[in-house]
Amino acid sequence: MFTFHIGDEVFAKACMNTEAVGMSDAPDDELAEQEGYDEHDYDAYDGDEPYDEGMPYKPPGSEGKETNLFEANVPKAFLIPERLRDKPYELIEAANDWHYAMMNDHPRNEFYRDCLRRVVTPESIVLEIGAGSGLLSIIAASLGAKAVIAIEANRHLANVAREIIRRNGFESRIHIINKMSTECQPEEVAAYGGTPTVLLSEILGTLLLGESALHYVMDARQRLVAHNAAVVPRAGCQFATLVESQDIESITSVRSWEGIDLGWFNTLQDTTSMVFTKQYGFRFSSCHYRELAARQAVLHVDFAYDVVGLWRGEMRQRVQATKSGKWGQGLQLIEDLSQAAAGMAPAPFVVTEGEWLILVTRYSADGVTLQFQLERDIPRAD
Ligand SMILES: C[S@@+](CC[C@H](N)C(=O)[O-])C[C@H]1O[C@@H](n2cnc3c(N)ncnc32)[C@H](O)[C@@H]1O
Repeated sequence: MFTFHIGDEVFAKACMNTEAVGMSDAPDDELAEQEGYDEHDYDAYDGDEPYDEGMPYKPPGSEGKETNLFEANVPKAFLIPERLRDKPYELIEAANDWHYAMMNDHPRNEFYRDCLRRVVTPESIVLEIGAGSGLLSIIAASLGAKAVIAIEANRHLANVAREIIRRNGFESRIHIINKMSTECQPEEVAAYGGTPTVLLSEILGTLLLGESALHYVMDARQRLVAHNAAVVPRAGCQFATLVESQDIESITSVRSWEGIDLGWFNTLQDTTSMVFTKQYGFRFSSCHYRELAARQAVLHVDFAYDVVGLWRGEMRQRVQATKSGKWGQGLQLIEDLSQAAAGMAPAPFVVTEGEWLILVTRYSADGVTLQFQLERDIPRAD
C-alpha cells in the first residue's frame, strides 16, 4: 500500500493504476522519445537462455470445445428471448462484457482508420489477426484495399463477422479464416489475392501485451506477410500512474468494525499481483481517486521489430510525488517492503509531496505481466 500525505490532510491510500495503452503508427523509438522513456532500460534478453514463460493467451472460443449454450446457463424459470436461446454463452458474455464498449470507442476506431489511411493503397492485401465483429477489416476495405483476409479464432464470432461484412457489402473483398493465426499457413492466406502487405491487429487487453499481441504479430510477421509489410499499430506504450483512492482502500483492506480489530486480516493482502478491477466488480473509472505523480511509460513495444522474450529483470525510473487524476482498469497495491516483518500486515508507504521515489517495474519475459514496487530515492552521502 502506498500512502501519500498532503498538507493537513490525513494519509490517503494509493496504488499503481495502469492506464489505457497509448498506440502509435510511428516506430517505437519515436514514441519512446515523446514519452521520455529510455528504450531498453530494462535488461534486454541477450539470447543466452531459452525463452520460456508459459503458453500465450488463447482467446475464448478458440479451443473447438462443445458449445455451452446460453439457455443452459439461465435458471429454468427465466424467460429467454428466442434470439439468445441457441447462442453460445461465451459469445453473449463477451459481447455484453466488452465488445460493445470496444466498438463504441470512437477514438480507437479513428486511430485505426487514420493509420490504415496512411498505408492502404488499391494494391494492398491486408491481413487482420483477430477480426472480432469485422469492424477494422471493413475500415481497411472501405479505404480501398484490394483484399482483406480476416483471421478470427472464435467460430461464433467468425460467423457474426461474416454477417456484418455481408450487410455492409464487402463480402467480395473480405475473407474470413476461422482459425488461430498461428495455425494458418502462408498458402491459404495468399490464396485470397497474394502475400499480405499490411498486417493489422487489435488484440490488446487491459495491459498492452495481456492477450499476447506480440506473440501473434511476431508469428504473422515471420510467416504470413511480406517482409516489408506495414504493421498497424506500429508501436504501443503502457503507462502507469500512482493514484490514491479511498474507494479502492475500502475494498482491498480492512481496519475494524464497532471496536472489533480486523487489521490482522491484512496480512493476506496481495501487494504482488496486477489485478483487473473488473475482477473486483468495478471499473476503475467509477472510483474516486487522485493522481499522485505524473504518468510513467513502463513498457514500449515495436510491433514491427520486437520479439517475444525481450523483457528481463527490471526497469527503474525516478518519479516525483505530485497530484492530479486519470483513468485505467488494472491496479496493483503498493506496500513499504522496507518495513515488512513476518506475521505483520503490510506497512503503508508514506511519502511527502515533492519527495523523489524510484518506480521499479518488473516484467515477465514475454512482457505480458508487470509488477510494480516503490523505493525511496535517497541521495547518497558521497
Ligand atoms: C479485442 S478483439 C478485437 C476485434 C476487432 N479487431 C475490433 O477491433 O473490433 C480481439 C479478437 O481477436 C481474436 N483473436 C485474438 N488472438 C487471435 C489469434 N491469434 N488468432 C485469431 N484470432 C485471435 C479474439 O477471438 C477476439 O475476437
